[in-house]
Amino acid sequence: MLDILKGPQTWLMEDELYRRFCALVHEATGLSFGENSRFFFEKRVEMRMAAIGVATAREYYQYLLYDSERVAEWDQLITHITTNETYFMREERQLRCFQKEVMPLVWERSAGKRVRIWSSGCSTGEEAYSIAILLREAGLYPENRVEILATDINTRVLAKAKSALYTEAAFRAVDSSFRRQWFAPEGAGLFRLREEIRRRVSFSRFNLFEMDKYNLLLPFDVIFCRNVIIYFDLEAKVKVMERFHDKMRPGGFLLLGHSESLISVTDRFKLIHLPTDLVYTKEAP
Ligand SMILES: C[S@@+](CC[C@H](N)C(=O)[O-])C[C@H]1O[C@@H](n2cnc3c(N)ncnc32)[C@H](O)[C@@H]1O
Repeated sequence: MLDILKGPQTWLMEDELYRRFCALVHEATGLSFGENSRFFFEKRVEMRMAAIGVATAREYYQYLLYDSERVAEWDQLITHITTNETYFMREERQLRCFQKEVMPLVWERSAGKRVRIWSSGCSTGEEAYSIAILLREAGLYPENRVEILATDINTRVLAKAKSALYTEAAFRAVDSSFRRQWFAPEGAGLFRLREEIRRRVSFSRFNLFEMDKYNLLLPFDVIFCRNVIIYFDLEAKVKVMERFHDKMRPGGFLLLGHSESLISVTDRFKLIHLPTDLVYTKEAP
């Protein structure tokens, strides 16, 4: 329909309240919502208002701040406003570079110590399990010496990740032999990841924007943070990258999504050319 016939857009909340919502969500999660995402954001708020029986957006705002159930409601709101798109072997070239070029370097430097890999913003688990499959395929890294931690802010995707049960959509970038080798059919159109891969990944809730929680983490050799910081504004990116730097062993690697870069964010990681891809590294002293 022509815009002129639709009439002016009516919003759920006044501009000033929308800005306050955005600031509140940003402070809690680092996620950045602006005018372009207003329709999406307001629809999600409306859904949550209906679910808990709150009549106005202003009341819902107060609920998020002061209600005794606010922690549970934040959890719900976050599951509604995060983008969780993912699939197995996403950006395969980069994952192959991890398997064939990054891991041998990390392994050599580890000198018998445990190697720790973090899939931060793991969504429903396809990234972390792809990493586990690649390590298993390489056959060089014994399970008890490599730890894979996968975290996300969204508890609903984490529950799905732990179940390791996937539909066809998760296999859109791999050929059928990948699925046959690592998954067993389970019911109509569902496939469960084999136990030998599942047990290699541990899942946990972690909000990348809760800065004081990073001290609970042990240092990592490789951090994957792919297709996560695109939803953050500059300030949030800077803060999270600072923490990643603190939590990375010298000589460790940071793998971002291919549409993401640290230009104008930080120069603490160095971009290096490996034979098949570009990766960020924390230089060893
Ligand atoms: C688009 S998915 C990316 C999944 C996977 N890394 C990939 O590239 O396929 C982005 C994920 O980041 C998570 N996320 C967003 N903000 C976060 C935060 N502050 N802390 C932790 N995870 C967050 C979302 O819940 C979502 O599951």
